[in-house]
Formats: sequence, structure tokens, C-alpha cells
Amino acid sequence: MQKEIYEQPKAIQATLEGRINNGRLLEECFGADAGEILDGIDAIKIVACGTSFHAGLIAKHGFGDLANVLCSVEVASEFRYRRHVVSKNTLFLTLSQSGETADTLAALRIAKKLGYKHTFAICNVQESSLVLESDLVLMTRGGPEIGVASTKSFTTQLVALLLLIIAVGRRHGMAESTEKMIVEQLDSLPERIEQVLLLDEPIAELAKQFADKHHALFLGRGPQYPVAKEGALKLKEISYIHAEAYPAGELKHGPLALVDAKMPVIAVAPNDKLLEKLKANLEEVSARGGHLIVFSGIDAGFIEDEHLQVIHVGPTEQAVSPIIYSVPLQLLA
Ligand code: BG6
Repeated sequence: MQKEIYEQPKAIQATLEGRINNGRLLEECFGADAGEILDGIDAIKIVACGTSFHAGLIAKHGFGDLANVLCSVEVASEFRYRRHVVSKNTLFLTLSQSGETADTLAALRIAKKLGYKHTFAICNVQESSLVLESDLVLMTRGGPEIGVASTKSFTTQLVALLLLIIAVGRRHGMAESTEKMIVEQLDSLPERIEQVLLLDEPIAELAKQFADKHHALFLGRGPQYPVAKEGALKLKEISYIHAEAYPAGELKHGPLALVDAKMPVIAVAPNDKLLEKLKANLEEVSARGGHLIVFSGIDAGFIEDEHLQVIHVGPTEQAVSPIIYSVPLQLLA
């Protein structure tokens, strides 16, 4: 898994190859009939499992904020067993590293029967069932992922999703300057991830505090809340420490009662428009004697003290910040 964490700059570079060029998306990457199919889409339904599901939760923000379309996200094991109302012109989008996850595959087959207009798969294995059974495909090029816990597949899924967000956004009023901003951030992403990987040492030091812990709480707001969920999942999967993620604004409605010095609270806190609100939530944690570990941008103004440690992840580029902030949480796990 550590090897695959370090492969992410290369994997992201490969996933972008031939798909962006001087500030623009090259739409041909979605296939010949993609343009016509995307012309008729005005909503997205994402179905996936595990870490791929978290990628979908992050993309929901991008489809809403950047592409101006409604996007709903559901785990495949729930989707396949309930009655559905299908709104027309909805694209059914599956996310999967393997392309063989039984629940996701079953969900796709059900979706086709339910009359979803078109199906789209973002996948890492070319000859998988999911790819063969979907109308449109955008391959992530992470190379074989051996680790059970998805890392490079997750970040390359998020890159592929941003490309699709641009393609859909073009049909729903996305300004060219917005497309240019996203593409420029994607273009410099491999280098940004290389910089974040330099945090391995300080994070390894930080991880020692978790050796005797049995619970951890991850907090985030907006698109960083699914990043917090992914960080909690990685900690559970790899270190067997119970961890859960909460939207930071929900802290007061329950979990705050559990916060004490024995339960580290990890906050995903880039300097975005929700930062001040997040800081207010973190003060609630400090007031209860909780120990805070904050992943943040240099420009976010957190002051370290004996109950607050800051890991500086670097400046915050809006569109790709969930991808950047996921990497330190992989290293922590
Ligand atoms: C789980 C893995 O078994 O399956 C996760 O541990 C993964 O890392 C999930 O996200 C879904 O797998 P896939 O191949 O559909 O992305």
C-alpha cells in the first residue's frame, strides 16, 4: 500500500495523459458517441462501494458547484435492494477499481432494467465486467492496485471525475475560465502530490501518538467531509483503530460528548470558504480537552499548542484540494 501511495504522482500523470491540453479538456477521451450522450444528461447518479463510494461523495460537490447538475450518490449494496424512481436524462455512473465488485455490478444491471438513459464506468481494469457492460468508460491508469485498501485508484478516480465534471459542465454553463482553472490545477497535481509525500516523516512521528489509542474522530466540511470519511476508513482498515468521520457542524449533535484526551480528533481544514465555521467547531473540541490534529494550509492561521498540532499541507487549490488532502491521511493510516 505504501508503494502505491508513492506511485500516485505517476498514476495521476498517466490518467491525465492525452486528456488535457493547454488549459482545455480533450473530450474525445470519453469516446466517439460521448458528446451526444452527454448532451442529453441533466443529472448524475453515482453508485459504488467502499473507497470508491467516497470518491463519489467528493464528486457530488464538483457536479453541483462546478458543473451545475444534480448528483446523488449511493452505496451499491443499498441501491440494489430498494425500489427506485428514475428521473429521466440521468447518467448512471459507477466507480470501481476492480470493475468486478459484485454489488456495483448488480447495481449496474438493475439500473439498465430501470431505464437509466445511459451508463458510464470509471474503472481501473480494462477487461472487467463493469467496463464491458457500460455504454461509456473512462479508464483510470493507476496500474494494477495490489493493496486491498484503495489509494492510487481513489486519487485517479477523483482526477477522472474532474474530467467528467468539466465535460458535463460545458453543457450546463461552466465558464471557460472555470475549466481552465480546473485543468491548470490538474496539470500541477502530480507535482503537488510529490510535495505532500514529503510529509511522510512528520506524519510517521505523529502516528506514534495513536499506538495506544482505540478511537479517533475525523472532521471535515463540504467536500472535505468525504475526505474525512476516507481517512477514517483507512485508519480502520490498516491499523484496526475504531474511527468515524463526522461533518464538523454535526459535532454538537452527539459525538462531542465522546471527545476527551484519549480520542484524537483529526480535522481536514484547508483554507476554504468553510474554514471559519470549522474553526468554531474545533474550539468546541478544545473546550472539552480534546487533542486536535489539523491538516491545513499554511495560510489558514492555526496556532499550535500542547493540544493542537498542525500538519501543513500547503496552499489550497479549490478543485483538487480533496485529492491533495487525502494523501496525508493515507500516510497516517
Ligand atoms: C473493498 C476495498 O473491498 O472494495 C476498498 O477494501 C474498495 O478499498 C472497495 O474501495 C470497492 O472496490 P472497487 O474495486 O469496486 O473499487
